Amino acid sequence: MIRTITWKSPPNLAIVKYWGKREGQIPMNPSVSFVLGNLASTTRIMYSTSISAGGLGLARFNGRTDERLTLRLQNYLDGVYQIFPGLSKIRLEVDTQNNFPHGAGIASSASGFSALAFGIASLADELQEEVLPGLNFLQKASWLARLGSGSAARSVFQGFCVWGETQLWAESSNLYAYPINADIPSIFNELRNTILVVSELPKAVSSTDGHRLMENHPYGHGRQKQAETNLQRLKLGLSNQDIYEFLLVAEEESLSLHALMLAASPGYWLFKPETLMLMSIIRQFREDSGVATGFSLDAGANVHLLWFEKDREAIQQFLHDKISPICPPERWLVSGIGYGAERID
Ligand code: DP6
Repeated sequence: MIRTITWKSPPNLAIVKYWGKREGQIPMNPSVSFVLGNLASTTRIMYSTSISAGGLGLARFNGRTDERLTLRLQNYLDGVYQIFPGLSKIRLEVDTQNNFPHGAGIASSASGFSALAFGIASLADELQEEVLPGLNFLQKASWLARLGSGSAARSVFQGFCVWGETQLWAESSNLYAYPINADIPSIFNELRNTILVVSELPKAVSSTDGHRLMENHPYGHGRQKQAETNLQRLKLGLSNQDIYEFLLVAEEESLSLHALMLAASPGYWLFKPETLMLMSIIRQFREDSGVATGFSLDAGANVHLLWFEKDREAIQQFLHDKISPICPPERWLVSGIGYGAERID
């Protein structure tokens, strides 16, 4: 008999960025992010315990068989078998879809791998196999997600979380993310994120290759110190309800991320002329108007415009007057802070 498990999980945006990793998907520095509302990957696992040949039969993305995805998932499953040996005896098929446009430049590896990891954690429960003993269900899902893509570890929890060991949060871990919402005042529930899609082309250099270039990077040590300082600033900014400090940390971290790419060997860049124009327009608007808004970038050309619900009217006007000539409304994806993953079968 074929059974199915389906989970829906969101992407996330890091305010302090994960950049650089060690063997075993261990981050070089701790990162803090929040999950995005409205956007999600939905991943269905079909499995049969009666077919003796285990492994991955087929992987589909947005309804189509996808060979690259199949290969990536096969590699991923090889890693998962080490902690969940029973899975290797089970025939799986995986079907995943995103509710955000393909090619919107929004990384789907975080949402995709976290939805898949939830499915695998549920499967372990259904088969009554003890996987990662001592951890609760969400920690297991986060650990399993991390093995697929580091940032996916942070898509498991609602709201904000930290991934990577830091003294600032005693329960933080390199192996799974830890939710930090208890430390965060409610003003941050009003955080909004309008994603300005500058480029729909695939990235010239993948994040995985970018992480690799952090090994022996000339600014590697400096980056680790900077991440720790920015983490302290962020924690304090959050607890003081200092939304400007929050936005400044988000911007500085994004600029650092791209500066590290520029200074790598070989150096490269993922931003486009429009990215730079949007960043300077956003800063200028904040300086002129005093409205609490700022930007964040991921490893790509798109700009995340961060703002708060109380400023909705001023932001709508700003988007219309200043942003739309460079990035028209059909290239905006409106999001906010999300409520995390859910099982939907
Ligand atoms: C720039 O998690 O995509 O988005 O672990 O190799 O899959 P892998 O990399 P990935 O890296 C994302 C890095 C980032 C910053 C961040 O999300 O913290």
